[in-house]
This record gives sequence, structure tokens and C-alpha cells, in this order.
Amino acid sequence: MSFDIDAFIRGMPKAELHLHIEGTLEPEMMMGLAKRNGVSLPYQNVEEIRKAYQFGSLQDFLDLYYAGMSVLKTERDFFDLTYAYLTRMHQEHTRHVEIFFDPQGHTERGVAFDTVLDGISSALEKAQIEFGITSRLIMCFLRHLSEDSAFETFDHACRCKSRIFGIGLDSSEKGHPPSKFSRVYKAAREAGFYPVAHAGEEGPPSYVCEALDDLKVKRIDHGNRALENPALVKRIADEKIPLTICPLSNKRLQVCPDLTQHPLRKMLDADLIVTINSDDPSYFGGYLTDNFLAIAGALSLDRKAVETLGRNAFIASFLSAQDKQKALEDFDSYVKGLG
Ligand code: ADE
Ligand code: ZN
Repeated sequence: MSFDIDAFIRGMPKAELHLHIEGTLEPEMMMGLAKRNGVSLPYQNVEEIRKAYQFGSLQDFLDLYYAGMSVLKTERDFFDLTYAYLTRMHQEHTRHVEIFFDPQGHTERGVAFDTVLDGISSALEKAQIEFGITSRLIMCFLRHLSEDSAFETFDHACRCKSRIFGIGLDSSEKGHPPSKFSRVYKAAREAGFYPVAHAGEEGPPSYVCEALDDLKVKRIDHGNRALENPALVKRIADEKIPLTICPLSNKRLQVCPDLTQHPLRKMLDADLIVTINSDDPSYFGGYLTDNFLAIAGALSLDRKAVETLGRNAFIASFLSAQDKQKALEDFDSYVKGLG
């Protein structure tokens, strides 16, 4: 009997490193929270919401993403959102998650930083106890906003240092280079936060260079356009900087409309530490397993390539050395058929 790669993917222990918690807001929950909080939406039903999810670019998506956030108001809302995602991850055999959140998307509309963080972190704690899912929280700065606003948000993170592991950079990439945030990243690194940044999703390879040189990131989120610069690819390989790749996001945001043309195989061939992630699964049509299945199908990946991608997620994670070793041992037992 031939090897069933889809079943192998479904059962594989997984880690997710690029996930915006606000991007897990399913249309059903959006309608439910709108009702609970008395927020009016420009949609009558779930079908209308789903129909609106046709994106020509990153900005098209971000406009809907920020509009969708308007239903999130209370600590309970953030708890429910996060717990729903973690329940789903448990069903998908996900053992570890590193989650982005966008506090400025909430503080700008009057929701307190602590309301957001308290809701998300209680769900993370509950999932660790109930499901054994470990987590790291990464606070993103919205790059279309000012450096001053980023510093204000950073002050909140410093107050809540024990619950926030890293800092990231997301939102509209073009016209907002990483260097705009060099100073706040320096302050954050000195305070002990792990730095990552979105770069090279729509922006040019030079933004990836800036993320490395100016922000001194430990991982690049997306990084697809780095492939346009062979010297940069060599550097990313030599310095072992992981890339968090998001296939269904790339497809839906027209970064790579046809997944059979996705550069993932080139990245693997160049010895880059690439990982598979879902980015904003509710908006892009699939969670972590769906992303693995989609890219493995489109590129006819074999078992070895899927294993590499699965293992890379634990290698590239911010787990402690001891927890990483244990997670990799569990992964290897699964691969050997013992898991
Ligand atoms: N915010 C949420 N998803 C994003 C993405 N894919 N790129 C930039 N900002 C985002
Ligand atoms: Zn992202």
C-alpha cells in the first residue's frame, strides 16, 4: 500500500509560529460577538461575511481584518477567541503555538491593553493545563502607525513582561520599512523581548535586510521576496534565520496565487529553515493542517520534505532548550511510527 501523506500530516505533532489571534475570528463568532456587544456589522449573515473575503492585496485584507476586530470588546471576548483557536489546535495535534496579537488595533478604538492581554493569557493558561499546549505570546507593532505609538505600546509590554515573550511587526508593509522601528526594537531587545518581524511578504528584499540588520530579528515572518536576492538567501541560510511561511495566506493575498508555483521547494533546496503556518486562518480558508495539506499537494512534497517542515517548526520555536529537545523526541517517535 502506498504511503498516505495526508494521514501522516493530520497525525503529526505540530507547532505553529505565525498566527495572528485576531485572524482566527470565524464569521460565526463575529456575528455572535456583534450581537453580544451590540456592534453593528455591514453584513446580514455568515455567508455575506465569507463572500467579502476576496482579496486583491494585503491592504484589501487588512481593511476587513481591522473592521472585524470591532466586535472584540471584553476580556471574555478575547478569551473565547483564543480558546476556540487552541481547542482546534488540540484537535490537530498541535503541541506548541507562538501567537501574535495587535494591541494597537484595540487600544486605538478604546479597548484597554490589559483587557486584551488578560483574555488571551487566561486562554493560553487553560489550554496548557487542559491540552498540554505550550505557548509564547508575541506583541506586534502596527507598522502603518507612528514610532511614538509603538513606544507607547512597548511601555505596556514592559509592565506585563512575564506574559509577553517577543515583539513583532505587521500590517501594511509597503512604505513602512523595518528601519522605521529600529529604536523601539533596540529598547525591546535590551528589555529582553525576542524580536521577529514580517518582511518580504509584499515589501522588497531590502526590507528583509533591514529586519536583520536594524531590528536584529531571530526569525523572518514570510520572507518570500528574499528569494529575489541570492546573496540574501545565502545569508539567511548561513545565519540559520528561520522563515515562517504561510501558503494559504500567500495564495489568498496574491503573493503567490498558484501554490504549484510556490517558492517553498526552492527554499528547502537552499537549506533555509522554513516552517508552515496559517497566518489568519479564518480569512484565508484554513488552519495549520490545511496549510500543510495544501502545500504538500500543490508541490507533491514527499514524506521527507513534510518531516523536515514539521521538525523545523520545533527547531525554530522559542521553546527552552529542554522543552525543545523533548518536543523533538516526541516528533521523532511519531515519525518512526511509535507516536
Ligand atoms: N496582520 C495580520 N496578518 C498579516 C499579514 N499577513 N501581513 C501583515 N500584517 C498582518
Ligand atoms: Zn502574518
